[in-house]
Amino acid sequence: SDHAGYLLKEELKDALAQEHEVLDMGTGSEESVHYPDFARKVCEAVRAEEAECGILVCGTGLGMAVSANKFPGIRAIVCSETFSARMGREHNDANVLCLGARVVGAGLASDIVRAFLSGSFAGGRHSIRVQKIADIESEFGRRS
Ligand code: RB5
Repeated sequence: SDHAGYLLKEELKDALAQEHEVLDMGTGSEESVHYPDFARKVCEAVRAEEAECGILVCGTGLGMAVSANKFPGIRAIVCSETFSARMGREHNDANVLCLGARVVGAGLASDIVRAFLSGSFAGGRHSIRVQKIADIESEFGRRS
């Protein structure tokens, strides 16, 4: 998280610690920081397969998602309800969930995280679409 997401990140960490192994990649306080630095840490860990998936929290979830989606192989979604979190896994093979601490409370955020973590990619026709996303990434990544 960044500073705006710090308190929610701490709450989510406590809520999930019993069920999941949690790797906390900061930030460590409410002191102002820059969200792309934390998106980078989490996305690098997911790309290196040090983590199965990532959860990023900032004020709105938006800056984190924009930053995360710059990383090849990262499919980040912003959710403020559980249906999208589950669908994001099933249809989009999302591997990073972004939350807005100024948008959702801790109870809803924890339900969203559980919906995300319990979903799995449905494959089939969705694989073709996810592959097309990867194709866009390779085509335009080479030019930048
Ligand atoms: C920080 O004030 C805020 O801009 C950040 O947490 C996030 O909401 C950006 O998208």
